[in-house]
Amino acid sequence: MEQAGGAFGMLRASLGVMNLRPPIVIGALFAANVFGCAAQPAAPAATPGAASTSRPTEGFRREHAEIKEHLEHIAAELGKLATASPEEQQASMQHVVAFFREHITPHAQWEERVLYPAVDRRAAAGANPFTASMRYEHGIVARWTTELATMASASPPDVTGFTRRADNLLGLIWAHFEEEEEVLLPILDRTMSKADFDREIGAHGE
Ligand SMILES: [Fe+2]
Ligand SMILES: [Fe+2]
Repeated sequence: MEQAGGAFGMLRASLGVMNLRPPIVIGALFAANVFGCAAQPAAPAATPGAASTSRPTEGFRREHAEIKEHLEHIAAELGKLATASPEEQQASMQHVVAFFREHITPHAQWEERVLYPAVDRRAAAGANPFTASMRYEHGIVARWTTELATMASASPPDVTGFTRRADNLLGLIWAHFEEEEEVLLPILDRTMSKADFDREIGAHGE
């Protein structure tokens, strides 16, 4: 699947020998509609200005933007849950859990393996890794995802409780992404060239 991501996928495949690619190739996900929602791959990520497209982290930021588009779809799905039939509720809750497990979890694991160490090396945090709180939030995301899976499998399920917890999780992920984009990635943008970023972290940019 990862080879099907067009130019993006090819760039990443070229780094495959270094095992530095994040597990999500968004282009391929769009093509396969793995998320189960109708995202349009042609929609570009919001870009504040032309100069920003030259940031070393621009490709990774686009990946975040595409994931956030799917977070919106999950939020919309949750909004319909209360009035859906029991069968639809069951299918929808399983879909929501699968989204967190199959797409958010591997994204976080790749960040902890590759992106966060690169930030920590440049943040001069010594014995206290700069990304410690972000790693902790990944743990909260994992814990709440497990809770959602348990709730989705209950019989009968607590649909209201599931919706509340899933909404909480979406809010946490939304804030977490913004923290990465506004606090962590600027450290890399200030201290790395695009070539540095591609070599050390992975090719995500133009
Ligand atoms: Fe993260
Ligand atoms: Fe992230």
